[in-house]
Amino acid sequence: MNTKLEILEFPDKRLRKTSVPVKTFNSELKQLAEDMLITMYQSMGIGLAAPQVNHRIRLIVIDISEERNEPMVFVNPEIENSSGEVESSEGCLSVPDIKTEVNRFESIEIRAKKLDGEEFHMKIDGLLSICVQHEIDHLDGKLFIDYVSEIKLERLRKKIIKEKKALNTEKKKPDYLI
Ligand code: NI
Repeated sequence: MNTKLEILEFPDKRLRKTSVPVKTFNSELKQLAEDMLITMYQSMGIGLAAPQVNHRIRLIVIDISEERNEPMVFVNPEIENSSGEVESSEGCLSVPDIKTEVNRFESIEIRAKKLDGEEFHMKIDGLLSICVQHEIDHLDGKLFIDYVSEIKLERLRKKIIKEKKALNTEKKKPDYLI
């Protein structure tokens, strides 16, 4: 049985905690990853970190495929190397309605574990790289809006309220939610 989990939303303090490394690779961990994927798909997200669903462990799930059929799971992910810089336009399932530009590394080399505990290395760039960086931030209690000044955030909030009033039909969706 898979369950859709509740996603914590800003300014919930639980989103600010640092998550601990996974030590036990059991069926419970597998079940949580499954439930997180279901939750991510149902919320139209492309990435989700365990602390967003109130589990303080270093586990993230991602699917950046168009068809939504290439789930990826990273346990205890760590960035080993990074290069370049890229501006990404981000939204987050835990920060509804806000979308803003954030500077990220263009490409990263990561080390992580699979659900069975096996270690793997990957060199990634593009959207996957951005997504992994965004999710690792969640594991460290960091949100993408932390990179933006308070003044700019206030401006964004006002703009969103205005847009909502003007449209009054459909919410303006960010490019992607991670
Ligand atoms: Ni997020």
